[in-house]
Amino acid sequence: MSMPKERNEELTRTGPDTLMGDLVRRYWIPALLATELPEPDCPPVRVKLLSEPLVAFRDTEGRIGLIDEFCAHRGVSLWFGRNEESGLRCPYHGWKYDVTGQCVDLPSEPEALGTRSRIKLKSYPCLERGGVIWTYLGPPALQPEPPEHEWAMVAPESRFLSKRLQECNFLQALEGGIDSSHVSFLHGPALKRDPLFVGSKGNLYNERDRMPQFEVVPFDGGLLIGARRIADDEKYYWRITPWVAPFFTLIPPRSGHPVNGHAWVPIDDENCWAWSVSYHPRRALTRDEVTAMESGQGIHVKYIPGTFVPLANKRNDYLMDRAAQKAGLSFSGVEGIGMQDASLQESMGPIVDRTRENLVTTDVGIVTTRRALLEAARANRAGKPIPGVEPATQRVRSCAIELPKDVPFKDGAKDGLFRPLGTDPVSV
Ligand code: FES
Ligand SMILES: [Fe+2]
Repeated sequence: MSMPKERNEELTRTGPDTLMGDLVRRYWIPALLATELPEPDCPPVRVKLLSEPLVAFRDTEGRIGLIDEFCAHRGVSLWFGRNEESGLRCPYHGWKYDVTGQCVDLPSEPEALGTRSRIKLKSYPCLERGGVIWTYLGPPALQPEPPEHEWAMVAPESRFLSKRLQECNFLQALEGGIDSSHVSFLHGPALKRDPLFVGSKGNLYNERDRMPQFEVVPFDGGLLIGARRIADDEKYYWRITPWVAPFFTLIPPRSGHPVNGHAWVPIDDENCWAWSVSYHPRRALTRDEVTAMESGQGIHVKYIPGTFVPLANKRNDYLMDRAAQKAGLSFSGVEGIGMQDASLQESMGPIVDRTRENLVTTDVGIVTTRRALLEAARANRAGKPIPGVEPATQRVRSCAIELPKDVPFKDGAKDGLFRPLGTDPVSV
């Protein structure tokens, strides 16, 4: 059964006062890499989130401000502003704002008129954790405790974080993150060569069984999406991908390699930030691993220098290599796992028309996640509890495991999914 048009609208629109936008605003969301605001009084940065144009700055005291991009006077972009003496000053007529958006200096009017104290821009709270500047765009009274996704809690040397612009709606990017079935096709050749994936028995299982069976189990953070493939006569190979509401996904590991995850953060309805994290819960990343990640391997990408735009992008047809496609060096002809995903997801259009889909059994994880997102969005509107807000519910890890055929993954993989920090991943 295909999806009605209205449902697709509800699921994909995240601007102010939309159903999904209201849900996403209930969570701490990644806004910037901490390195984008490296020091007090550094240049401000444009930030667009959930269709809201904002500007971020770090003031003289090191506090982070995330405020309306446009000056309250006559709408100049404060990205042009002077970040000085505990505030951001508009370069047009000198109005100055602090990190709360309060106008603290209005040099073009006498203070006695009281105009200055009445001027306050919209502002959102921020916090730094795990190399990320997080923000909360929701109702102040409902602001949750700081996030505790495992990747954000490990030591800095155990984590590599990147973000790239993805030119499509967040939901179709997210759907790629939980779609275990495409791995057997799209990423098959790359799994054999990429230094961050090679050598796992799971790669062989992925290659041999291209019809995974899905089982989805809810948990307090969202969903545990299990994809099972045949390992041998007695065992299944399970890849379990947690979806933590509203847009965090964790990729099951391969042998001793770092664990990977994503956050699919809406910029507006037709663009998102694909945050990509590789981390190891027990050890520091090795020099070789970091070098591979920095050079765009694993789930990371190469960039147009000085930007977060991938070097391979839709304006250059993702540097498609037809010869490599034909020779089987890559299944689609696009280099790198991250851009293999992004190229195909962007090719679906900025917001894919889900009324035209023909979903099959390997899409069970996607169907269930859409339903869970909608349910959460409706629960939020009704003032009911929603998944993944409490930090404890975010403490989940992906896992890859061989289990006897009669053991359900929710029992057999429990220890792998809810392990304490500092332990090895459960991985095949
Ligand atoms: S437009 Fe900013 S001070 Fe006038
Ligand atoms: Fe993928």
